[in-house]
Amino acid sequence: MRRSVLSDWLAQRLDRGNGQPIYRQLHRLLQQAILSRELPAGSKVPSSRLLAQELGIGRNTVTQVYEQLVLEGYVSSATGRGTFVADSAPDEIVGALDVESSGTHRTPLELPATRVLSARGARLIAGAGVSKRQWGAFMPGVPDVTKFPAREWSRLHNKYWRRLRPDLLTYAPGGGLASLRHALADYLRTSRSVRCTPEQIIITTGIHQSVDLAVRLLSDPGDVIWTEDPCYWGVRSVLHVSGLQTRPIAVDAEGINPSPDDLAQPPKLMLVTPSHQYPLGMVMSLARRRMLLEYARQHTCWIIEDDYDSEFRYGSRPLASLQGLDMSGQVIYVGSFSKTLFPGLRIGYLVVPEALAESFATASAELYREGQLLQQAMLAEFIAEGHFASHIRKMRTLYGQRRQIVLDAASRRYGDALPAVGGDAGLHLVMQLPAGSDDRLVAAAALERNIIVRPLSGYYAQPSLDSSGLLLGYACVPDEDIGPAFDTLGDAIDSTLNVFAS
Ligand SMILES: Cc1ncc(COP(=O)(O)O)c(C=O)c1O
Repeated sequence: MRRSVLSDWLAQRLDRGNGQPIYRQLHRLLQQAILSRELPAGSKVPSSRLLAQELGIGRNTVTQVYEQLVLEGYVSSATGRGTFVADSAPDEIVGALDVESSGTHRTPLELPATRVLSARGARLIAGAGVSKRQWGAFMPGVPDVTKFPAREWSRLHNKYWRRLRPDLLTYAPGGGLASLRHALADYLRTSRSVRCTPEQIIITTGIHQSVDLAVRLLSDPGDVIWTEDPCYWGVRSVLHVSGLQTRPIAVDAEGINPSPDDLAQPPKLMLVTPSHQYPLGMVMSLARRRMLLEYARQHTCWIIEDDYDSEFRYGSRPLASLQGLDMSGQVIYVGSFSKTLFPGLRIGYLVVPEALAESFATASAELYREGQLLQQAMLAEFIAEGHFASHIRKMRTLYGQRRQIVLDAASRRYGDALPAVGGDAGLHLVMQLPAGSDDRLVAAAALERNIIVRPLSGYYAQPSLDSSGLLLGYACVPDEDIGPAFDTLGDAIDSTLNVFAS
């Protein structure tokens, strides 16, 4: 059954990980919805039973919130007919909202978004996918940061701080530190078959910033960009906020699969994950790669290749990049140390065609006033001394084991009923749920049990119950915790879907 609009609105805002009781959050959100007219005067609110069920929370919680709202005059209940939004919210209520019971003023973020944000800002916040929690079973996309070779890093750290170099503590000149660009060019040429010189590499704070820079320099607001459907919500937000029109293109077993209708309307840019489609995990076939490159050449479009985690491929060697096949300079390659080292490092890179390198370096310094040269110097040395390659090797073995432990736990509990896809590479896999089940409810029920999983439907341009599944990140979960965590997740799945209860 489709959830009500109100439940969707509430589900997007309730945050089970922020330490605030659900009762308090729900109470405040409903107040906001009424004051901002999201819930118009006179409208009927769902029954406590239905709302509790749709949000995956206790019915008592909802009943108590409704009773409180009745006391405050936001809603009134008519026996036998239901609960209705009051015709007008008394002024003292609006005033009372400005001051918390503790006496402190509420923050501007708690105001209805329509009052303080631009249309673009409000859209960004309404569609935001970022999670307040970034660590724990089964947080997707997060490597095991506890295994980072801290000793080598702190040795380099001490070395650079002992011999203080002013040139490493100033703003960066644009493009990043030469030693890191050289080390990366060597690495990308040999490991990813990327064709580049160090000058073509622009250091950024990660893929988010790389994509932001590329779309600012290569497109104008209103231009069309193809994105894979499904795709990573973070980059989709970057594109939306830049004023691009995204055209979601379906993927099949060979990767992005534009229809004749799509092909008839060439975009300005396309953004693809050829080595490991995010989040479903397929590899773009050679035929599709050739087709895409030829199409981009004929229609002068840019291809942004997001190569975010392909170092971790289990059972076969990492695949060559799309950029390496590009003979006409249409590909902008973006990569990151977020998965190979640790996300908080915030270092990533772009590889751009030679003719654009100078403009990208200048724009990067102009827009972001970059720095972090000292960290870049440490990282260059870390790579040159072989620690980067050896860390990747170790982590590949570790994540391969953890992937197998999750797969075993899933098959022990569900056999073939919930197939896992996309686990041949990367740090996560996707467990498919029966069509028609609501993966957001399952994710909410899991979070109540302290397990983080992301609902697959949220990665689609048009979320639907037909694309129901869960993203499970296994890389950051210690081996011995995976089985118990999966059992807890299984309880959340079974209790929500009612199909596996014996
Ligand atoms: C497909 C994809 N691209 C990019 C990123 C983020 O990269 P960065 O941390 O370098 O901004 C992620 C993070 O999960 C991702 O899944």
